[in-house]
Amino acid sequence: MNVEKGYVDIPIDPALDLREEITRLKRERNAVIMAHYYQREEIQQVADHIGDSLALAQLAAKTDAQVIVLCGVHFMGETAKILCPEKTVIVPDINAGCSLADSCPADKFREFVQARPDHTVVSYVNTSAAVKALTDVVVTSSNARQIVESLPADKPIIFGPDRNLGNYISATTGRQMTIWDGACHVHEQFSVEKLLQLHKQYPQAHILVHPECPKPIRLMANMVGSTQALLNYAVTAQADTFIVCTESGILFQMQQKCPGKTFIPAPPEDGTCACNECNFMKLITMGKLYNSLRYMAPEITVDPEIARQAVKPIERMLEISRQLGIIK
Ligand code: 13P
Ligand code: SF4
Repeated sequence: MNVEKGYVDIPIDPALDLREEITRLKRERNAVIMAHYYQREEIQQVADHIGDSLALAQLAAKTDAQVIVLCGVHFMGETAKILCPEKTVIVPDINAGCSLADSCPADKFREFVQARPDHTVVSYVNTSAAVKALTDVVVTSSNARQIVESLPADKPIIFGPDRNLGNYISATTGRQMTIWDGACHVHEQFSVEKLLQLHKQYPQAHILVHPECPKPIRLMANMVGSTQALLNYAVTAQADTFIVCTESGILFQMQQKCPGKTFIPAPPEDGTCACNECNFMKLITMGKLYNSLRYMAPEITVDPEIARQAVKPIERMLEISRQLGIIK
């Protein structure tokens, strides 16, 4: 079988109903399909569970299925594999990386950590397994503030790799942090000027901003929050129009959950398109998902020694999140 390209590259009969075939194969394989909110609409429609990074990690830890097909990016597949080493974890295209995770190579992060031996190391889930292995506690955008607040006040903190999320958490918790200088190419792309123009057109609109966005964008927000928090806000807020500053895949769920409301994606700075898409997330297509279930590839593997170290800060995150009532 040809997986050299990072996905199963075998032609698919164009007459097939892929949605039906995926559902059939999923049952045959005892597989569960999990999709991040930034996935294509058709992938979200066929998934058993849709969620943000925290929800996907929690669902992976709890599932009874023998096979987890993670429609998201590589680090999400790694997190699932680390939590469930006995299960088969598939990401339908392993080229689905993450510019933020890539901005923090493990060898450089090790030097950064070793130079500060008295620090508590907090890493965003958007990191490789090797970076998690150097970490004391993992966080996602849904629990970063509460987890940082729960850490002993007398110990300094290293936060990596997202500088925008790190600065936001430092400002909201008042905790001094040494922050790794990484960023996500999607959330860094929003332009204050374009956002102002759009807000002039829709002055009643509430502006929703993911904390991976830079401070000037966050300062314009009615609501700063994780993908899940932005979705919850859209459902409960009195406003009927929203400008959304995060990856545009979330608009599908916002529209599903709030059929009477209007959601406008904030455009990126370069002006080449009207919304901001993560090209890695969009690598997962129905064809690749179908072939991945059909041929059970490509599988995610994690070095056992790295997995042994990385599981501790991930489980610590889940444990603190349960204790604080963020997850059940
Ligand atoms: P959340 O899913 O935690 O909101 O993170 C956003 C993101 O960029 C995932 O890659
Ligand atoms: Fe990574 Fe950004 Fe894509 Fe999320 S949106 S997967 S942080 S590159």
